[in-house]
Amino acid sequence: MKRHCQRGVYYDVVLSMKRILAIETSCDETAVAILAFEKQAVKVKKNLVSSQIPIHQKYGGVVPEIAARNHVPEMVHLLDVALGKDHLKHIDAIAVTEGPGLSIALRIGLEAARVLSFLSGKPVIGVNHLEGHIASAWLDAKAQKQWAFPILVLIVSGGHTELVLMKDFGTYRLLGETRDDAAGEAFDKSAKLMGLPYPGGPQISKLAETGDRQAFDLPRPMLRDANLDFSFSGLKSAVRREWEKLQKAPGGVSEKMKQDLAASLEEAIVDTLVQKTIKAVEKYPVKGVALVGGVSANTYLRSQLKAALKRTDKTLSFFPSDKKYMTDNAAMIAAAGYWKLKQGKTMNWKKLDVRPEMNF
Ligand code: KG4
Ligand code: ZN
Repeated sequence: MKRHCQRGVYYDVVLSMKRILAIETSCDETAVAILAFEKQAVKVKKNLVSSQIPIHQKYGGVVPEIAARNHVPEMVHLLDVALGKDHLKHIDAIAVTEGPGLSIALRIGLEAARVLSFLSGKPVIGVNHLEGHIASAWLDAKAQKQWAFPILVLIVSGGHTELVLMKDFGTYRLLGETRDDAAGEAFDKSAKLMGLPYPGGPQISKLAETGDRQAFDLPRPMLRDANLDFSFSGLKSAVRREWEKLQKAPGGVSEKMKQDLAASLEEAIVDTLVQKTIKAVEKYPVKGVALVGGVSANTYLRSQLKAALKRTDKTLSFFPSDKKYMTDNAAMIAAAGYWKLKQGKTMNWKKLDVRPEMNF
């Protein structure tokens, strides 16, 4: 009876809510979004992202202190643009990334959300950045209709490489993860030692288009292991060895050599990710596979995974996140916030704190 009453109250609350404001500052993107929901569908109304990539490029990676300092003015600016003169009048709840991420960067978004909640009395929802990435695959209207559990999720970003079994909204089981570098790190670190600017993923992928994928025999660590874990740090060391050899070539490193090394690196990373995902699909009977995170922007990974899934099981749905939501953004945080709101998981702003090491 009590449960029933609680459910009744909770549905009333959800139905009366229409808009979520979301804030994301876990790394080097300052992001604010507004998500609106009616009974059947969820729509992104605003999706503002201010990237600090040009600022961090000269350091070859993200400097946490500089990221945090730049989040402050950008956060105020984006909130102003997103909310306009109505401020929080049409906002019903505020979602914010709690972690994982850079502690002092997360702190900026979190304090903004806490102050907004304190001043307005609107509830706040703490969101796991990784759950946000998962929600990015669900934001597409077609995906919202086809989404059926269980779903296998491959999260590939600059800090994470994880295979997650999603049994329901908010119910996750970590099946495998990287033991050292993330897939994005393997791209970024290899690119850096090849003299390419940060972030290296898109640079490697561009060079790889015209390279020979078999030119260099790079390792695929842990591929033969029965578990679903990854390891990419050996790959970076192998790229270093090949790069040093190439530099000794008469005439130095040609553009063709660079393209071939980039293509071989992309092949090794994609091959590993695809084979492990297929292994997971064969082990766990899922209805669909979602591909999310910054590295999912890699066209070769998307096409190879799609083809491999089709070969394995034609009935599987494939949910790659939309281009707009692959790299860090707040629309995905709003979507995960919406899932939590539906389950009544709002918080008091006083209880909200950063969780830099957060995981599943
Ligand atoms: O999800 P994300 O924006 O930030 C993190 O939470 O880490 O992912 C950023 C990562 C970087 O490592 C970047 O090099 C990689 O995504 N990335 C790519 C591509 N676009 C971005 N990696 C490979 N190919 C791409 N096209
Ligand atoms: Zn991310």
